[in-house]
Amino acid sequence: MPPPAASTVPAFDVAAVREDFPILATRVGTHPLIYLDNAASAQKPRAVIDAVSDYYALRHANIHRGVHYLSAEATDAYDQARVTVAKFLNAAEPRECIFVRGATEGINLVASSWGRANLRAGDEILLTTLEHHANIVPWQIAAETVGAKIKVIPINDRGELLLDHLDTLLTPRVKLVAITQVSNALGTVVPVREIIRRAHAAGAVVLVDGAQSVPHLRIDVRELDCDFFAFSGHKLFGPTGIGVLYGKAALLEKLPPYQSGGDMIERVTFEKTTFRGLPERFEAGTPDISGAIGLGAAIRYLDKLGHDALAAHERRLLDHATAAVRAIPDVRLIGEAADKVGVLSFVMDGVHPHDIGTILDSEGIAIRAGHHCAQPLMQRLGITGTARASFAFYNTIEETDRLAAALLKVKKMFG
Ligand SMILES: Cc1ncc(COP(=O)(O)O)c(C=O)c1O
Repeated sequence: MPPPAASTVPAFDVAAVREDFPILATRVGTHPLIYLDNAASAQKPRAVIDAVSDYYALRHANIHRGVHYLSAEATDAYDQARVTVAKFLNAAEPRECIFVRGATEGINLVASSWGRANLRAGDEILLTTLEHHANIVPWQIAAETVGAKIKVIPINDRGELLLDHLDTLLTPRVKLVAITQVSNALGTVVPVREIIRRAHAAGAVVLVDGAQSVPHLRIDVRELDCDFFAFSGHKLFGPTGIGVLYGKAALLEKLPPYQSGGDMIERVTFEKTTFRGLPERFEAGTPDISGAIGLGAAIRYLDKLGHDALAAHERRLLDHATAAVRAIPDVRLIGEAADKVGVLSFVMDGVHPHDIGTILDSEGIAIRAGHHCAQPLMQRLGITGTARASFAFYNTIEETDRLAAALLKVKKMFG
């Protein structure tokens, strides 16, 4: 008999991968750092740190404006980063990928620019209970400006969307659906493909908030058929201050500029200004050149490791951690969707999540405690916050055991 299909599980050497991340050697007092706050921001591999540092050491100049050697080098590196991002998302063309500060700015760009051009009084914007404030507040502001209304797809107690409500919610008044692909607070994977299909059939445009999905799922914006997709570089092992807004070219071409100034214009007179095409029209001023280059390096690094190997390791981590934490008395898991990635949220009877976070920190374990910028979700669940451990592929099974052991200690301290 041949051995079981072990060969279908890609090999993954977590110890070797950890060597790529200098910060993982940090000690917190006498404890080795256990970094379980990856949903807030992921750590950076040497490949990203070196790409940013080499850029400043060897190639820095302003882009697009210079005729000199360094400006051409920097422009080339910046443009290459956009090509890398486009391949990562499977966008049809690099010009559909706009460099922005992060998911927040990407969503604000669409809310402001698309909203101004398309939203009218009486229109509706459809969100979900799972959304991060970054995918709520910009829509509220856009809606208030014109007298449009926000509606919400509800969830069940496990943190899964109740899609039975979708057909009733998707009236002809809904002009836009804005949905997260993965919940930052619960880890729920949202069936965005299905929602996009039904939203399009109802005539609505769809924005996907990919801030939490890009580190865990393979993304294909053409297969999803989303109209807009926003994510942040820093959650994808890249630098802070850089992110991407993908938009279908046909839609972006029709949008008015978001910000204005240098580099996004064709011709300026005091009477009138004409604007450049994509992507420059949405990248006013000097962009985050080093950030884009660092993000390109992060994507190339992930490509080398291979998505399937990372995903299989992360699956093992989440399953192991879930079983270990569930076994602790008086701990209740928050968010038990059938399809989940990366996040383990929980509460412990009689212990405030911040106290859990503080005690774990004294053991070198970094988690997050609070509402996770998802207050409407917390209200729906009847809690004020959770303790959240969030995983990346460089975490180990031993680290999840240390998390569970530390939680048992917390439990004992609070009796
Ligand atoms: C689901 C989700 N959307 C949007 C954001 C905003 O990302 P950023 O602060 O990087 O712009 C976050 C950040 O935590 C998030 O988790």
